[in-house]
Amino acid sequence: MKTILTGIKPTGDIHLGNLLGAIRPAIELSKSGEYERALYFIADAHALTTVRDPKAYKQYVYEIAATWIALGLDTTKAIFFRQSDIKEVFELAWMLSCMTPKGDMNRAHSYKDRVQKNKEDGKDQDQGINMGLYNYPVLMSADILLYDTNDVPVGKDQIQHVEIARSIAGRCNEYFGEGTLVEPQEIIQKQGAYIPGLDGRKMSKSYGNIIPLWASEKKLKKTINKITTDSSAPEEPKDPNNCLIMEIYRLFASSEQVKSLEQRYREGIGWGYAKAELFEVVNAYLSGPREKFNYLMENKNEIDNVLLDGASKAQAIADETMQRVRKAVTGF
Ligand code: TRP
Repeated sequence: MKTILTGIKPTGDIHLGNLLGAIRPAIELSKSGEYERALYFIADAHALTTVRDPKAYKQYVYEIAATWIALGLDTTKAIFFRQSDIKEVFELAWMLSCMTPKGDMNRAHSYKDRVQKNKEDGKDQDQGINMGLYNYPVLMSADILLYDTNDVPVGKDQIQHVEIARSIAGRCNEYFGEGTLVEPQEIIQKQGAYIPGLDGRKMSKSYGNIIPLWASEKKLKKTINKITTDSSAPEEPKDPNNCLIMEIYRLFASSEQVKSLEQRYREGIGWGYAKAELFEVVNAYLSGPREKFNYLMENKNEIDNVLLDGASKAQAIADETMQRVRKAVTGF
C-alpha cells in the first residue's frame, strides 16, 4: 500500500513559511490520488527536546492541529494524529537505536551544528545538548518506519534524517531479513522550499522576520507593511522580478492578478500600494481558515475528537508493523 507520511513539529508562532513550505504542499499531495494511505502527525515528542513548559507544549499541539484542519486537511481521508498517542513508536525507537552506529548520530547535521557552535564559543562540545536532541534522528526514523512509509515529503533541512531512516531500515533488513522494514524515500519540496521573510532572508522565527499565519487582520496588515523595500520614488518603474513583495504575492494571487500587478510595477508603483495589494490577497486566502482556526481553538474537544480518530487508525497500522518487527528482531 503506497504510503506517504510526514511529521510536523509543534512550535509556537506558526507562519506563512510553514504554510507554503510544508502544510499546503502536504495537503495537496494527500489529495493527489497517488497514495493509498496518507499519515500526517504532530511530532510532539520531538518538541520535548526544547519545550520545558507543559502549558506551552499542550497549546502548541492544539495550535498546529487546528492549523492543519483549518487549512483544509481532509481528516476523513488522511490519518491525522499525535505522535505520542502511539506508544509503539518509542518501543521501535529503542530497537532502532540498538541498530544504529553512534558515529552516524555524531554526523547528523542538527547535532553536529550545535557541537560546532559550542566549539567556536569555546565551550564544552556537548554543552546544552540533551540525549533527545542527539537521538532525534532515531525517533524520526521510528516515526517513518512504524507505518511502512514509502514517501516522506520534507524540506531540505530534513533530507539527512530520511536518509538515516533508510539506512537503518536497510541495516535491519540485512540482519533480520528482507521485508522487516520498508525503506523510505524523501520527496523534496521544491516549490515553496524557500519562503522569504520580511527582510528577504528565509522566513524563520529565529530571524524575527516572520509573517504570522493567524494574526488578526489588523496585525497582518501591520506586519506586511514592515517588508523591507528600497527608497525609490513611487513613480519610478520597478522590476517585478526582483522584489520581495512580488515574490510573496505570486504565492497567493491568481495568474491574472500577478500579470496586472507586474504591469503596475513597470509603470511605477508606490511601495505602500504594492503592500496593500499583497495584504489583500494574503488576507483573502486566510480569512476563511482564520475563522475556522479561531473556532477550533475555542472548541478544543473537536480537535481532540479528530486526533483520537486518527490515533485509532494509526494504532492499527502500528500494531501490525510491531508484531512483524518484534517477531523478526526478538523471536517473540
Ligand atoms: N523533524 C521534522 C521537523 O523538524 C519533524 C518530524 C518528526 C518528521 N518526525 C518526522 C518529518 C517524520 C517527517 C517524518 O520538521
